[in-house]
Amino acid sequence: MAEKTARLSVDGIDKDIELPIYSGTEGPDVIDVRPLTSEGLFTYDPGFVSTASCESKITYIDGGKGILLHRGYPIEQLADHADYMDVCYLLLNGELPNAEEKAKFVHTVTHHTMVHEQLSQFFRGFRRDAHPMAIMCGVVGALSAFYHDSLDINDPHHREVCAYRLIAKMPTLAAMCYKYSIGQPFMYPRNDMDYAENFLRMMFGTPCDDYKVSPTLAKAMDKIFILHADHEQNASTSTVRLAGSSGANPFACIAAGIAALWGPAHGGANEAVLHMLSEIGDVENIPEFIQKAKDPNDPFRLMGFGHRVYRNFDPRAKVMKKTCDEVLAELGIENDPQLAIAKELERIALEDPYFVERKLYPNVDFYSGIILKAIGIPTTMFTVIFALSRTIGWISHWSEFHSGPNKIGRPRQLYTGEQMRNHPDAE
Ligand code: SDX
Repeated sequence: MAEKTARLSVDGIDKDIELPIYSGTEGPDVIDVRPLTSEGLFTYDPGFVSTASCESKITYIDGGKGILLHRGYPIEQLADHADYMDVCYLLLNGELPNAEEKAKFVHTVTHHTMVHEQLSQFFRGFRRDAHPMAIMCGVVGALSAFYHDSLDINDPHHREVCAYRLIAKMPTLAAMCYKYSIGQPFMYPRNDMDYAENFLRMMFGTPCDDYKVSPTLAKAMDKIFILHADHEQNASTSTVRLAGSSGANPFACIAAGIAALWGPAHGGANEAVLHMLSEIGDVENIPEFIQKAKDPNDPFRLMGFGHRVYRNFDPRAKVMKKTCDEVLAELGIENDPQLAIAKELERIALEDPYFVERKLYPNVDFYSGIILKAIGIPTTMFTVIFALSRTIGWISHWSEFHSGPNKIGRPRQLYTGEQMRNHPDAE
């Protein structure tokens, strides 16, 4: 219900256009611009910098204060006091699970971790050096060919089954991408392992030995999953919602989200950060790269820096930096050269007026790659890990979209092309 009203006076229209204003529980008020259409007007907002595309109850970001809440809980507290399964349950259902709810949720996820045996045939069609994100786009989309029993998007039970299947199978498929790339056999998930431990064993174990997962690495992996779980209406989540609005099945929608995440301006940044740190090579080369990043004529950007919403520290980057120090210390990795470059790069950038004026701070991708590398994850798999973690956010938003009244998403445009003209041969 609108509490306030905006009145827009437009040249050529003899009366003000009344636009309802709505308030949320947090964040800026929104102006409902739908009445503009009947006055023959559209809004114009390339990149949706100032546009709320939907109403949501899942995640809230205060970019000015560097706050990130999942169903009201600060990300820092979830990182310290919850595990990824807690966060999955919270994002999907709106509350943290009690002991009984958690046990049931984990049991169900665990018993959906295997993929249909025929899915492994899909990998055989890819080159061994295919980028794993290309494979993930393909095999996740292909899941819809295997689960005809739960594709009624209007059935809450079908939506729940799809959510379990996707949360459970993403680690298995991600590990299969890695195994395929190194020519090792696929590893089956184990029902006696927790989520992160199971994933790391499928990544680094072989049928030849009883691989033991380091509890330190499993804990770090679980924290990385938490920190990437959801983030409001980012590019890939908006893609999933838009694909979902046409009635497409959830597996196809998540495949669309994976494709959107792959870009280096979005989830592909974690892989790009490691390439950038390698290219910088030594702290003495940092000034040269800072100059490149500031040069408007140079497409080079400081990967892992800046954010559409955060105009302060990305709270996930702070937790990630703390985890980085903890994991490297526990692994006895002293003076990691790339961590040294990353920390010096951050220090210099945060003192440079160009970055300070534009409020460019490290984002979630700046330190994550250093931890993933310490865990043994190859750079090409970094964005796959991001996709694995973000699946719960994507499917929670997809479910939220289908849980209430909704419309197909269909933006309009400012057309500046040719006006109507006749074909040379037309009468
Ligand atoms: C993620 O949306 C989300 O929530 C995403 C995400 C999630 O969890 O889903 O948080 C995950 O995608 C994090 C972002 C990862 N991407 C990168 O690290 C790539 C590097 N960053 C930039 O590409 C950029 O900062 C974006 C894409 C993240 C944000 O771009 P915007 O909001 O469109 O900002 P902009 O490009 O308009 O930049 C504003 C100014 C520009 O300078 P001027 O034109 O004002 O002179 O800041 C400059 C930009 O040139 N700028 C940078 C910069 N980022 C912005 N200059 C150098 N290095 C950078 N990294």
